[in-house]
Amino acid sequence: MKNFLSKIPEQVKRLSVLLVIIVIGFVVVTSYLVPKDFGVLGHYRASAVQSNANKEMHYAGQELCASCHEDILKTKMQGYHKNLSCEVCHGPSLKHTDEPDQFKPNKPRDRKFCPICHEYNPSRPTGFPQITSASHNQRKICVTCHNPHNPTPPQTPKECEACHGEIARTKSFSAHADIPCTRCHEASEKHKLMPREYLPTKPVKREFCGGCHATDAKSAPEIPRIDLATHEPRYVCWQCHYPHLPEAK
Ligand code: HEC
Ligand code: HEC
Ligand code: HEC
Ligand code: HEC
Ligand code: HEC
Ligand code: HEC
Ligand code: HEC
Ligand code: HEC
Repeated sequence: MKNFLSKIPEQVKRLSVLLVIIVIGFVVVTSYLVPKDFGVLGHYRASAVQSNANKEMHYAGQELCASCHEDILKTKMQGYHKNLSCEVCHGPSLKHTDEPDQFKPNKPRDRKFCPICHEYNPSRPTGFPQITSASHNQRKICVTCHNPHNPTPPQTPKECEACHGEIARTKSFSAHADIPCTRCHEASEKHKLMPREYLPTKPVKREFCGGCHATDAKSAPEIPRIDLATHEPRYVCWQCHYPHLPEAK
């Protein structure tokens, strides 16, 4: 026997020691450290179900909120916040649903709250509504203008310049600076709310410009005149003069 042992190479002996340690380790872990009910229901501890069920609940879920605040849920479902659950903003409110007068949920009116989701951040998906809170109506809290349950602000008609800034700036240092946009374009108020559905008119005939510039036009005498019959009659005026900066160079 002694002879036999001494014939075993040194490496194999060391390997067997390692193997024995592993086997003992496995037996210890499976019989002493793994909880008794592991695997009874699945690849987990069966009693975990109970201990999780015993945890105290904090969130109610918005279906429960709606049982008393139906009008608010209805408003919310019509707006951009329809996918935000009530408690995302109001915090865990289960206690409130049991005793509404005793426990009041948070009302996050602070200006710092909404930018958690809306502050400009280049890693947010394009198209996600973002603002730079330092310059977006800084003096007021967000909820003065945005109803948190339906945040689209009331639209107010704007000046032409608000959307056509480039044209307005160009015109402002041209010979036409003093002519209002609406002298040449008929624009309804609806254009300012739904611009593409209600497009303003544009002049179509050279006689329109002739109304001020023709030799016989009844307009202010300082306005430069051309003879409509001879001044490039084969073209419309704006093929050569950009109407918002008409100076010919
Ligand atoms: C059992 C009815 C009931 C349920 C359910 C309920 N509420 Fe209320 N909630 C009330 C009542 C009543 C008030 C008004 C208390 C008052 O006038 O002071 C109120 C007030 C509030 C307020 C205003 C608190 C304040 O300080 O003005 C918020 C916010 C609110 N509820 C959010 C929620 C949310 C979120 C849920 C769902 C988790 C919810 N409520 C579920 C009955 C309920
Ligand atoms: C985007 C965040 C947000 C979500 C989502 C939200 N709320 Fe609010 N809620 C607010 C803020 C902010 C106020 C405070 C408004 C104020 O004081 O003018 C408020 C106010 C309230 C109030 C007090 C009464 C009122 O109209 O001002 C109630 C009640 C309320 N919320 C219930 C709900 C319920 C119910 C839901 C889900 C259906 C919900 N909220 C979802 C932010 C939110
Ligand atoms: C948990 C994140 C979250 C919070 C907090 C949050 N919002 Fe929003 N908000 C959203 C999402 C999501 C949308 C919808 C974006 C979309 O549809 O592309 C949205 C949309 C908006 C819009 C766009 C409406 C439009 O007409 O384009 C405004 C304005 C807005 N929220 C204001 C607020 C205000 C004010 C608050 C604070 C009371 C607030 N949000 C809090 C996630 C949030
Ligand atoms: C004085 C009113 C006012 C206040 C206060 C205000 N907003 Fe606005 N907000 C508007 C108006 C009006 C718009 C429409 C777009 C525009 O003209 O800038 C708007 C647009 C937005 C948009 C949509 C931007 C987009 O590109 O679609 C978001 C998001 C928003 N606001 C969030 C906020 C948050 C968050 C606060 C508070 C930190 C806030 N607003 C405070 C009036 C206001
Ligand atoms: C809310 C933004 C907004 C405001 C305010 C606005 N516009 Fe526009 N306007 C647009 C958009 C968007 C278009 C379409 C541009 C496009 O299709 O490329 C447009 C197009 C036009 C066109 C071109 C029509 C065409 O057939 O090509 C004219 C002219 C015009 N606007 C004039 C005006 C005048 C004049 C005012 C002021 C009374 C004004 N707009 C105010 C957004 C606006
Ligand atoms: C003197 C008359 C006149 C005035 C004033 C004028 N426009 Fe124009 N505008 C025109 C004519 C003419 C066209 C057509 C040009 C064309 O078809 O190439 C035009 C075209 C446009 C277009 C179509 C896009 C483009 O650049 O061709 C827009 C938008 C526009 N104008 C907006 C405005 C706005 C905003 C103002 C005021 C800031 C304004 N216009 C003032 C005569 C005028
Ligand atoms: C409401 C009257 C009016 C209408 C309509 C009008 N203009 Fe003018 N235009 C003026 C006035 C005013 C001046 C500047 C006169 C001055 O320099 O004091 C002027 C100047 C000009 C000049 C000379 C610029 C320079 O100083 O070299 C050209 C070119 C011109 N307009 C082209 C047009 C064209 C093209 C149209 C049609 C799209 C048009 N105008 C429509 C009033 C008008
Ligand atoms: C083919 C290009 C072209 C067309 C089309 C054209 N013009 Fe001109 N226009 C010019 C040039 C170039 C000048 C400057 C040289 C000159 O005085 O002949 C000029 C000059 C003018 C002047 C300044 C005259 C002065 O005394 O300072 C006015 C005003 C004018 N055009 C208006 C118009 C009107 C209105 C129309 C349309 C009925 C029109 N133009 C069509 C090229 C054109």
